[in-house]
Amino acid sequence: MKEMTIGVIGGSGLYAMEGLEDVREEKVGTPYGDPSDLLVTGRLGDVRMVFLPRHGRGHRLLPSEVNFRANIYALKKLGVDQVISVSAVGSMKEEIVPGHIVIPDQFFDRTVARNSTFFGEGIVGHVQFADPVCGRLAAILAQSAREVGATVHEGGTYLCMEGPQFSTRAESRIYRGWGVDVIGMTNSTEAKLAREAELCYSTIALATDYDCWYEGHEDVSVEAVVALIQQNVAMAKDIIAAAVKCLAGERTCSCGMALQYAIMTDRALIPA
Ligand code: ADE
Repeated sequence: MKEMTIGVIGGSGLYAMEGLEDVREEKVGTPYGDPSDLLVTGRLGDVRMVFLPRHGRGHRLLPSEVNFRANIYALKKLGVDQVISVSAVGSMKEEIVPGHIVIPDQFFDRTVARNSTFFGEGIVGHVQFADPVCGRLAAILAQSAREVGATVHEGGTYLCMEGPQFSTRAESRIYRGWGVDVIGMTNSTEAKLAREAELCYSTIALATDYDCWYEGHEDVSVEAVVALIQQNVAMAKDIIAAAVKCLAGERTCSCGMALQYAIMTDRALIPA
């Protein structure tokens, strides 16, 4: 039987995973080009792990420059079943205070310059995406975050913007009016591709700022985001370590069957 493997996509501030044993670095080629960096494989306790820094070591890639297809393909190629995304986000609600953790359960995709499907070029498929996050993985991440003492908001809508500029005040206010909980620049694209690759996907979102909607609070800046991440990166690693202990067992969700009824193209026309 295949060994359960957990992938971690590290966001801003999480460029490496300490505490892994049997560590190896692998350069993984894909039909879509190179992933963001070498992938790091290892073991956390009994569990096989694969780590990939989303923006590359040293943070070299803009959100729009991340080769999301190569990243998800490479994780799949190394046997990953479940992907934990770690991401810094802006808070769009007063009660989501910078330093809090959000486990989003919905995405609103406002990106405009990304390739966010493996389909096309003769093969048409439409995966279900009404629930874009793996419910089981999300529940385990929320529980693990509570266990390590984080303040956790379970559920919420993550608006994914193209960037790299932060939002205007008008955009920020409009997104708030739409009921958005947090804002970031990467996760919708990953979640779409993870679903098409039949991987479980859920995010540990660290609120780093109040974007620019909240009068009397600093507007978001790289300085503020980085400071908040530095204070909380150890907590994110603790959440992952706690979660991984619960993720070793068989998957009970339907993420691994996402393609079962998704392909429209006549199978006789699809090369094996
Ligand atoms: N990442 C962290 N804070 C953000 C914000 N306010 N907007 C977009 N991405 C972010």
